[in-house]
Amino acid sequence: MTILWDFDPEAHHTYRYALGESPEVMSHGPSILKAAENGVGHRMVVIGADIDIESACQLAERLRVERPEVGVLLLRHRLDVNVMSLALRSGIREVVQVDDQTALAEAARRSEALTAQLVREGDEGEGSGGSRQGKVITVFSAKGGVGKTTVSTNVAAHLAASGARTLLVDLDLMFGDVAISLQLIPSGTVSDLVSMRGHLDRAGLESVVATHEDTGLDVIAPSSDPGEAERVPADVILELLRTARSHYAYVVVDTPPSFTEHVLTALDVSDLTLLVATLDIPAVKNLRLAINTLDTLGASAESRVVVLNRAGVKVGLDSDEVETALKQPISASIPNDLGVPKATNRGYPIVVQDPRNPAAVAIRELADREVRTRFGELIQESPRRGLGRRRSKV
Ligand SMILES: Nc1ncnc2c1ncn2[C@@H]1O[C@H](COP(=O)(O)OP(=O)(O)O)[C@@H](O)[C@H]1O
Ligand SMILES: [Mg+2]
Repeated sequence: MTILWDFDPEAHHTYRYALGESPEVMSHGPSILKAAENGVGHRMVVIGADIDIESACQLAERLRVERPEVGVLLLRHRLDVNVMSLALRSGIREVVQVDDQTALAEAARRSEALTAQLVREGDEGEGSGGSRQGKVITVFSAKGGVGKTTVSTNVAAHLAASGARTLLVDLDLMFGDVAISLQLIPSGTVSDLVSMRGHLDRAGLESVVATHEDTGLDVIAPSSDPGEAERVPADVILELLRTARSHYAYVVVDTPPSFTEHVLTALDVSDLTLLVATLDIPAVKNLRLAINTLDTLGASAESRVVVLNRAGVKVGLDSDEVETALKQPISASIPNDLGVPKATNRGYPIVVQDPRNPAAVAIRELADREVRTRFGELIQESPRRGLGRRRSKV
């Protein structure tokens, strides 16, 4: 199906023959983006001659990132070098003079052939059974110190050690401690992605990830300067997560304890949110508020699970009371164990360093059940590590 961006609702008659079908006329750029993003059958967008070049290029840039298989053709009253170079740089496939129906028909045919090829390649990449897109899992709590970094780091380390290509993104852009808790020296940071805005690809991602040797886990860390956080626009995070999920089976996101716009972006694209609670009233209250916010964002109840961390400590609040207050069942409980801060201080994920530790066992079970089984992975024995086995990076 082709969309025609034009102010004239009757314009579909003009291009019907050149396009080989009657296009759907839309007059509003953002609704075209939405239709192309959500619809499955859209393969081409033709932008009318009266749509200004900036808006046309903006739409093409967004589609290039979000639906690269959709072809964008631009109609102009006159062809000039400026327009051509702007258009091609933004990802528009061809610019055609508005009254040249033959040229439009040929451009449409070439675009359709390219789209068909891209769709085929996409299908081939799907492998058996699963979607080609990796899953984004965000670990969140509106309170600090509850174990978000512990859970995200260990879940991601376990997924990677089990053989799935996994990326851990530290979205605590001011005080992130993922890199330090894995003893990694980042080769690049989230801030480096700002200059790749609009054209982030696999090579760009590779240039900023650091790999945790023991597990093969890739990590993107924030800059060590907390002031950099506000220089990272939310759409850079969106592009990061979207690009990353095309190259990794799992993208795990660690977060700061607040709804920053970066966090909201991550929650919005997440397939699963792990909400971390502890047995204290402020943490439970904040988590209840967080769940309300997720409801407001339209996240489905099935796409989130509550993880009780430091369970078992006797503090006069028990897990049943937490479930009642949250109006949500607790899906996994991680015991309070001294081994956890010890592993954190040594810079090892406890699931790797001390696999029999009760907290490590609980985190592995959480990852196996709520991530691997949920997303259709067959659970097998973890391959042995330390045998020089390396995965391709991205
Ligand atoms: N299950 C646990 N048992 C004991 N200590 C824990 C447990 N989970 C986390 N911790 C410790 O609590 C501290 C805060 O955890 P962290 O994961 O950094 O929280 P957050 O990321 O939510 O701020 C760390 O020192 C960590 O080692
Ligand atoms: Mg943290």
